[in-house]
Amino acid sequence: MVGKYGIKTEQVATYGRSFHGIAIKYGGKTVANCASCHGVHDIRPSDDLKSAVHIDNIPRTCGKCHTGANVNYAKGKIHVDPTKREAGPVYWVSLFFKWLTISVMVGLVGHIGLDLFRRFRRRDAAH
Ligand code: HEC
Ligand code: HEC
Repeated sequence: MVGKYGIKTEQVATYGRSFHGIAIKYGGKTVANCASCHGVHDIRPSDDLKSAVHIDNIPRTCGKCHTGANVNYAKGKIHVDPTKREAGPVYWVSLFFKWLTISVMVGLVGHIGLDLFRRFRRRDAAH
């Protein structure tokens, strides 16, 4: 529905993967939902100075629950999709671990395979 108005659509999914989203799924009642950050009735785009999620207002918005939230709180993106390049370092770290996992698994299975192969050859040779 929102896509029709040129509003990004992956935000629900990225929220679901965030700390707050996962906590809510398991029954958390104190973590942030969409309205905690974006407000109600006066929801504005993040590049609007009056928006609760404008970079200048992030310390105050997060500060409602995270006492002492400072400008560092506004440094990272909130909605991050690690499969997209625009996620920056998060993208590269997740890509690195994806390939690390794949290569470790392939190496492990290959190692077991070669070991078994050798074992059977040795057994056959003994006959
Ligand atoms: C912890 C605070 C927080 C929560 C919770 C949150 N958002 Fe956001 N949202 C932001 C911030 C900050 C931005 C600005 C871009 C960024 O940092 O990712 C943003 C950006 C967006 C955008 C892109 C448009 C824009 O103004 O940049 C949409 C759409 C959006 N959020 C929808 C949602 C929806 C739907 C939910 C709930 C499922 C949600 N948000 C939950 C903080 C939040
Ligand atoms: C409605 C209250 C609320 C708002 C608003 C809110 N949070 Fe949270 N957030 C929580 C709670 C509660 C936790 C869980 C804390 C815990 O269990 O230690 C949490 C956890 C987190 C965590 C992970 C764990 C931790 O304690 O570091 C991060 C990161 C985080 N929030 C960032 C943000 C950012 C950035 C914003 C603003 C854009 C924000 N939050 C806004 C309530 C909120």
